[in-house]
Amino acid sequence: MSFKNSPIGVFDSGIGGLSVVKSLMESLPNEDVIYFGDIARIPYGTKSVATIKKFTEQTVRFLLKQEVKAIVIACNTISAVAKDTVLQLAGNIPVIDVISAGTKASTDISNKIGVIATPATINSNAYPRAIHEINPDSEVFAQACALFVPMIEEGFTDHPALELIARDYLAPILEDDIDSLILGCTHYPLIYNTITKIVGDKIKIIDPAITTCKQLTDALVARNLLNNNSRQGQYKFYVTDVPVKFQKIGEMFLNRALEQIEVVSVE
Ligand code: DGL
Repeated sequence: MSFKNSPIGVFDSGIGGLSVVKSLMESLPNEDVIYFGDIARIPYGTKSVATIKKFTEQTVRFLLKQEVKAIVIACNTISAVAKDTVLQLAGNIPVIDVISAGTKASTDISNKIGVIATPATINSNAYPRAIHEINPDSEVFAQACALFVPMIEEGFTDHPALELIARDYLAPILEDDIDSLILGCTHYPLIYNTITKIVGDKIKIIDPAITTCKQLTDALVARNLLNNNSRQGQYKFYVTDVPVKFQKIGEMFLNRALEQIEVVSVE
């Protein structure tokens, strides 16, 4: 098998990275994808940098064993604090991350940018830093939303309790008169409806997944690594703990059956 037809490795701490997979299914439908979700150890967003780096290293080693031709960090928390770990291990394999993509998408259209993300991503300051590198005049307003990830992993994606909490989290940044809002955690597109209900239609909501897939496509084209199969891409999902919820929420979100799910240990 040529390297062109090797799978793309996509990883997150849980189901959030499926928002990137959803975009991939549309933009690169012939590519095979290996997805890894570390649901035994989620959330990452409230853990220390050292722990997140350690988990990331274990995951990337696992993906490299599956002979992936590119790696997509479908987790803002990992992109914020452990991208260097991924780059070191990946060697010549292209690495795409959601923060670079989200930054590009937001600076293209906006000057007063809101970012919602996990505490680790917000505390790392990764988004304001990356945005100011591109546009020093942009104003960035950040808000950590620690409860979103556990609620989403529990399937509370459309629950009144989620809306109550979301209103509380979003109130301060909405007062700042932002014109765009980055979903700075890959879990948040799963609660897109609740967020838009609160934010309204005057603020442009940015899901970095779309630009992530664009950057991945560009990287594959540049290295002549696009899959030349005409068949539908195959998807294999690896999780580190009970796959039932992952499957249920994943199928609802992706609107298709997830059959190939396997539980693995990477420790
Ligand atoms: N989906 C991850 C992100 O984009 C966060 C999940 C977590 O806290 O583990 O940041």
